[in-house]
Amino acid sequence: MRVLVVGSGGREHALAWKIAQSPRVEAVHAVPGNAGMREVARCHPGLDGSDAEALLALVRAERLDLVVIGPEAPLAAGLADRLREAGVAAFGPSAQAARLESSKAWAKDFMARHEIPTARFALFDDLASARDYVRAGDGPCVVKADGLAAGKGVSVCDDATQALQALEDIMAERRFGAAGDRVIIEERLLGEEASYYAITDGEHVVTLAAAQDHKRALDGDLGENTGGMGAYAPAPVVDERVEKRILEEIVHPTLRGMVQEGHPYTGVLYVGLMIDAQGNPRVIEYNVRFGDPETQPLLVGLESDLLPLLDGAARGSLEEVAPPHFEGAAVCVVMASGGYPRAFEKGLAIQGLEAVGAMSDVVVFHAGTRLDEAGAYVTSGGRVLGVTAHAESVALARDRAYQAVSGIHFEGRHYRSDIAARALSRR
Ligand code: AMP
Ligand code: GLY
Repeated sequence: MRVLVVGSGGREHALAWKIAQSPRVEAVHAVPGNAGMREVARCHPGLDGSDAEALLALVRAERLDLVVIGPEAPLAAGLADRLREAGVAAFGPSAQAARLESSKAWAKDFMARHEIPTARFALFDDLASARDYVRAGDGPCVVKADGLAAGKGVSVCDDATQALQALEDIMAERRFGAAGDRVIIEERLLGEEASYYAITDGEHVVTLAAAQDHKRALDGDLGENTGGMGAYAPAPVVDERVEKRILEEIVHPTLRGMVQEGHPYTGVLYVGLMIDAQGNPRVIEYNVRFGDPETQPLLVGLESDLLPLLDGAARGSLEEVAPPHFEGAAVCVVMASGGYPRAFEKGLAIQGLEAVGAMSDVVVFHAGTRLDEAGAYVTSGGRVLGVTAHAESVALARDRAYQAVSGIHFEGRHYRSDIAARALSRR
């Protein structure tokens, strides 16, 4: 098979790396790809991953069989629809189905229609009524901008004062632009978060492992929300009993609901969950693509071939594919630019990549790097690298990942030193 991966982050590097190992693969291309991905894929930095016509031209020229779409924005814009109309197999949902992520309000209404457990919520189009609602409630709550805001449009509030400030930012100052035309005010859920990944062709489901992300910038879950500072899999909070409930109460009802409403969901459904002390799972949010950085440990720990799963989901033949096998545990530590998620410097030299790349059971995925004129790697983004290790246990994988991290240097490098600590403190 000849495969195209759309996107340029650590997630897409991990996807291309894993796809390239398939015995069934003949070629891997990436649009636009990134500097680190060149080792596993032919990158097309001049092409725009959201330009369907440019992608179709490449698909024809290179006789590509499958397009795997990494990020949510092109899915929400209808890229998978356009490819399928042209007869090209695409991994990822239609624009209508992608509303599970692209409109939080639509997703909340969908969950209400299908009795899928989630936080109680109210929706507001105007600031005055949103303010009234917050003042009347005056307890902990969560305020969210409705549209896509790159994971940053959410404020978890302790009281009304904080919630009013969040409303002000979103609706009056329009910090997230049009994404803030509408807000959702939710009950604040308590418990432990986990990310659950179900690959589906609309009807059949296979699950990878459950993972845990670390969204805050600093150790101890302090500091600002980021795209994710590290992740590990499997997440022990999702034991067999909890997993069964996630499937029965959330994943299957979601897929059935999408079929009933005329928008069958295909691709990967990534459910962000809060699991309370009694093991009750509730949906925090849906995502319609793989998580980043979660995909990095998920794929490094996946022993079996990923390609048949992606292809089976794209073609509606997932039933025929053997279930995936995840071995041991994997931990990914994100090395970020100093200052991230706020302003940071770019173009700083990265040292140690070669030696660390040669370590066994370690893979360094690139997210924000580029090559300078001399052909050396320099920083070019907030999240620079995802240093990912695989071992028999979370503890060993974590030690190995941090050993690798200590061999990589760039000025101002910042990473959390407590990735996977929650899994270890459980014992
Ligand atoms: P989201 O972009 O919806 O995933 O929200 C970002 C983060 O905010 C989540 O990962 C949670 O940590 C937190 N969050 C969102 N909604 C809730 C909720 N209803 N209760 C508690 N925490 C929440
Ligand atoms: N790591 C969080 C996300 O991909 O949305």
